[in-house]
Amino acid sequence: MSTTDHDQLLGQVRDRYAAAAISVNDRTAASCCENSCCDVDAGEGFGAALYTLDDQAELPDAARLASLGCGNPTAVAALRDGETVLDLGSGGGIDVLLSARRVGPTGKVYGLDMTDEMLHLARRNADAAGATNVEFLKGRIEAIPLPDASVDVIISNCVINLSVDKPAVLAEMHRVLRPGGRIGISDVVAEDRLSPAQRQERGSYVGCIAGALSRSEYRDGLAAVGFDDIAIEFTHQVADGLHGAIVRTSKPRPR
Ligand SMILES: C[S@@+](CC[C@H](N)C(=O)[O-])C[C@H]1O[C@@H](n2cnc3c(N)ncnc32)[C@H](O)[C@@H]1O
Repeated sequence: MSTTDHDQLLGQVRDRYAAAAISVNDRTAASCCENSCCDVDAGEGFGAALYTLDDQAELPDAARLASLGCGNPTAVAALRDGETVLDLGSGGGIDVLLSARRVGPTGKVYGLDMTDEMLHLARRNADAAGATNVEFLKGRIEAIPLPDASVDVIISNCVINLSVDKPAVLAEMHRVLRPGGRIGISDVVAEDRLSPAQRQERGSYVGCIAGALSRSEYRDGLAAVGFDDIAIEFTHQVADGLHGAIVRTSKPRPR
């Protein structure tokens, strides 16, 4: 893919999710024109319905309605008191707010997003929730604005498929995690039988389908930057051969 193609896709992703953030103010739920940001309006594979009712009850309405994910990464990451958590592509802040409760006042949760409108919505939701142990950072997940080895847990919900430079994202995750740190990600993942062209036939890039990695590509990419104990589990189908999936792995401690 050329740099121009990268820049065009990045612009489309930013525009789509800016529109989704604005729609939370104007309507009752995040939604994108043409049904094409992680496709909440289209079916059951995306959005707040993937959270338990108890989780949903912990959240301000606008955070719940802004949910555009494909799973519940906070449920798989087993967060503990005092941990530092980073949410890649934090959107309206749903997983940041749920994580903030899990890590308690001695913990800290960072949300990272590149879209101003999403950051504005997330900060407003954090105020409404009275969350004091959260911070939303502006930036790209391909260049995380945090120091080396500064985070215990990385979560992310339906964002890595949108990146135009996935090897950079995986390398950055490894850099900012402490040795022994872990990852719990929800993402759209393709079956190995689907070529990149077949993924494109099944849905758009901004709709979280065309840019999905296959299970083997995900596993190989994580292993290539040094992750260990990699597990990728399909949870629900979102298109023919494409699934909501949970990706778990950890950064080895030095021997
Ligand atoms: C599908 S939404 C998911 C939002 C949130 N994780 C959730 O579950 O509701 C994708 C989010 O990732 C952000 N995003 C997409 N690509 C990004 C990138 N390369 N760097 C930073 N943020 C990105 C978008 O602005 C948007 O807020």
